[in-house]
Amino acid sequence: MKREQWGSRTGFILAAVGSAVGLGNIWRFPYMAYENGGGAFFIPYLFAMLTAGIPFMILEFTLGHKFRAGAPKTLGTLNSKFEWLGWFQVMISAIIAFYYVVVIAWAISFVYFAFNQSWGEDSNAFFFGEFLGLGDDSAPSNLGSLQWNLLLPLCLAWAATYFATFRGVKGGIEKVNKVLMPLLFAMVLLLIGRIAFLPGALEGIDWLLKPDFSKIWDLKVWSAAYGQIFFTLSVGFAIMLSYASYLPKKSDINNNAFMTVLMNCGFSILAGIMIFGALGYMANVQDKELTEVVSSGVGLAFVTLPTAINLLPAPGVMGPLFFLALMFAGVSSHISIAEAVTTGLMDKLGWSRPKTATVFCSVGFVVSLLFITQGGLLLLDLVDYFINNIALLGSCLLELLLVGWLCRLQDFRAYANQISEFSVGNWWTVCIKFVSIAMLIVILFNNIKTAFLEGYGGYASAEVTYIGWGMITLMLIVAIIVNVSSKQESKI
Ligand code: PHE
Ligand code: NA
Repeated sequence: MKREQWGSRTGFILAAVGSAVGLGNIWRFPYMAYENGGGAFFIPYLFAMLTAGIPFMILEFTLGHKFRAGAPKTLGTLNSKFEWLGWFQVMISAIIAFYYVVVIAWAISFVYFAFNQSWGEDSNAFFFGEFLGLGDDSAPSNLGSLQWNLLLPLCLAWAATYFATFRGVKGGIEKVNKVLMPLLFAMVLLLIGRIAFLPGALEGIDWLLKPDFSKIWDLKVWSAAYGQIFFTLSVGFAIMLSYASYLPKKSDINNNAFMTVLMNCGFSILAGIMIFGALGYMANVQDKELTEVVSSGVGLAFVTLPTAINLLPAPGVMGPLFFLALMFAGVSSHISIAEAVTTGLMDKLGWSRPKTATVFCSVGFVVSLLFITQGGLLLLDLVDYFINNIALLGSCLLELLLVGWLCRLQDFRAYANQISEFSVGNWWTVCIKFVSIAMLIVILFNNIKTAFLEGYGGYASAEVTYIGWGMITLMLIVAIIVNVSSKQESKI
């Protein structure tokens, strides 16, 4: 059977941008920039983008285009001893899919609250905790009962992903992204257009952009920038490779990669302006310093911003707009995560698309119930930390070692250049073979050391061991077993 294909170049780019632009751009990037030197953060960030982000994106597009298969099959073709890495990547995607969807479910609930203005007069951490059912004794190992209020939004979030992956590349994924992406950009611009003219907004934006050059010499800042780039671009764990495996023969790889990366990073900056504008306004209204109102991560999106939105003129419009944007960004990314798993399984097991999508989304739905329990947020936090800081970076490093040192990297560059309008020079090879690998070794080693010595987030050390390290060990074991059994099968 002929492999599915994207309907148009725009369709592919929108889908790739849809994958890259996600929750991370909205709640991670702005705070990260603010904390790591403001305007000066752009130096390490641009460095990471140029030496890791763009080269890695070109690499994944090339591998997908050349081998026309998901990660397990592609990496297995490159080197039969490395198929397990493909499965490891598919598992990273699957686990992210299980918890990322829950954040989308929160966003859906908040769209609903926003229309009804029912997240409390001034929304606060207490409200969010109550909404999630977080109890005093909740812990990653003490999940408590299911939060029924989250069941319907969770079903809706999975339904969107199921629809897209079931219908396939052209009829599902491309169609959804063609609607969601333009809407997302338009909504964020609209929000900025309103927020920027409020008193205090410009001061807030100034806080974000004001460069603190003393931070430039801090290794932590570089490690933050480098660590963030893989997650934000969805590279290194089977996603972009899967999308690129559906490209038509005639495709401009280098150009597409540059556009995807630039649009993602551009969107991050827009999100930063929007959020810090709103925070600046809130500080102004409450007569506080910006440093007193700013917060990070989940708290920023679901606690601080609802408060800021309540203070805005026309919160009944701004609220739904913001949470719809969050939801659209999340859904388009979630689809890509699910597709990486679907493509990986389909290509390796020879299952049909409808069957694969149905099996994965059903299993995924059941597993994700773990995260809509009373302790779900804490479990999510712990799992996310280990996946992002250890599994994901480890997978990126191994993939780069494989293609950079065990394959003929120059052949891939030649392949990409020959079908692209403009060529990438030898810098590409240098970045992959040396710069990125060296940076990843330093960061990964440091992350592993920190997690070993200090644990994470104040969770009990048994939880960190069994849930964090246990999960990674289990993933490795499963990947290797699958690799070995698929080798034996191909011998028969
Ligand atoms: N790139 C997305 C973001 O920045 C996140 C993402 C993670 C997408 C994992 C796909 C897979 O939020
Ligand atoms: Na992103």
